[in-house]
Amino acid sequence: MSMLAWCYKHLARPVLFAFDPEFVHNVTLKGLEWVSASAPLSGMMRSLCKSPELPVTLFGQKFPNPIGLAAGMDKAGIALRAWESMGLGFSEVGAVTWYAQPGNPPPRVFRAIADEGIVNRMGFNNEGAKKLSEVLIRCKEKGRWPGHPVGVNLGKSKKTSLEDAPQDYASSFRELKELADFFVVNVSSPNTPNLRKLQDKDALKAIFSQLQEVNRKGRGDAKPILLKVAPDLTFEALEDIVEMIPRLEIAGIVATNTTITRPKSDQPKLMRVYAEAGGLSGKPLRERSTEVIKFLYQRTGGKIPIIGSGGVFSAEDAWEKITHGASLLQIFTSLVYEGPLVVRKINLGLQELLKVNGLACIQDAVGSAVKK
Ligand code: FNR
Repeated sequence: MSMLAWCYKHLARPVLFAFDPEFVHNVTLKGLEWVSASAPLSGMMRSLCKSPELPVTLFGQKFPNPIGLAAGMDKAGIALRAWESMGLGFSEVGAVTWYAQPGNPPPRVFRAIADEGIVNRMGFNNEGAKKLSEVLIRCKEKGRWPGHPVGVNLGKSKKTSLEDAPQDYASSFRELKELADFFVVNVSSPNTPNLRKLQDKDALKAIFSQLQEVNRKGRGDAKPILLKVAPDLTFEALEDIVEMIPRLEIAGIVATNTTITRPKSDQPKLMRVYAEAGGLSGKPLRERSTEVIKFLYQRTGGKIPIIGSGGVFSAEDAWEKITHGASLLQIFTSLVYEGPLVVRKINLGLQELLKVNGLACIQDAVGSAVKK
């Protein structure tokens, strides 16, 4: 462990963890917003956190390395340059919904420290798609747009009924289409009532046909639209989704969102956190999300790009997901537990693993541990 990574874990983290998780999140993001706006500060961060070049080309776009920022960390898109300076290969902002909404009442984020997990029930708190588009436009105008691909995570507004969900997603997409490189349809958050019912065949068909219509007829080039799935879907339900990929022109799958399941525990502190409603992320999610990645990779014959998400803390975790079928990965909880240097640590480790396995690039490792 580098000196700085050690300092985060043993000096900074205990102080941060003495405060409410959402308060710490907001203060950290404010700091990263400043870093993003300042060339000297982002330059400093860049030199401390520099990741090796591990380029991946996907959706006709070049990702400098396969480790990206997962949705939910920067819902308002205020710290894009900071994520790039942290060494991340791409970032996903949002979730954004068509209508601004406050989300669930706090407290709504809980640390499962002994298991290195987080339970959250934020409920898509955000200022709406119009506001996000203003923020992204301003970022471009000021020349502070990052040099890596940026995606937008699309959620459904709480006040919109399930029947009207397709219009809600399509309105946000229309507003933001020209401003980002890829889009992710989030029908898998456990924190908006009934949202995960939209993972059913008919609902997906209705949502994607509206989105693809906007994609064809709206201004600018068509954008890749991915689907983010829950780890709690059965293999039968995943199979249904796989069947629909070509017809709905789904460009890729993000696997997975947080889980509503909980590991067994007899530690009172963990039991208290696990009794909270919401989705669990971090180490307890790692194995199941890899299982889902493997299933999807096998069932699609490796033809559909998969972005893996769930409990990636180390290069070994990342390698496992890549060799089981993920072309790119996203992290959230490991940033909280290990700090910003985790990105560089994972990428340096991946570079080493490529060398040890005699492979030239990440793409050569994708799915190599799995029979298609
Ligand atoms: C999330 N996640 C999430 N996902 C999503 O698609 N839209 C969102 O708005 C959010 N919001 C969110 C908030 C918080 C506080 C957490 C912890 C997570 C899920 C996230 O993007 C990711 O898929 C999971 O957290 C699994 O990855 P990690 O955290 O185990 O690396």
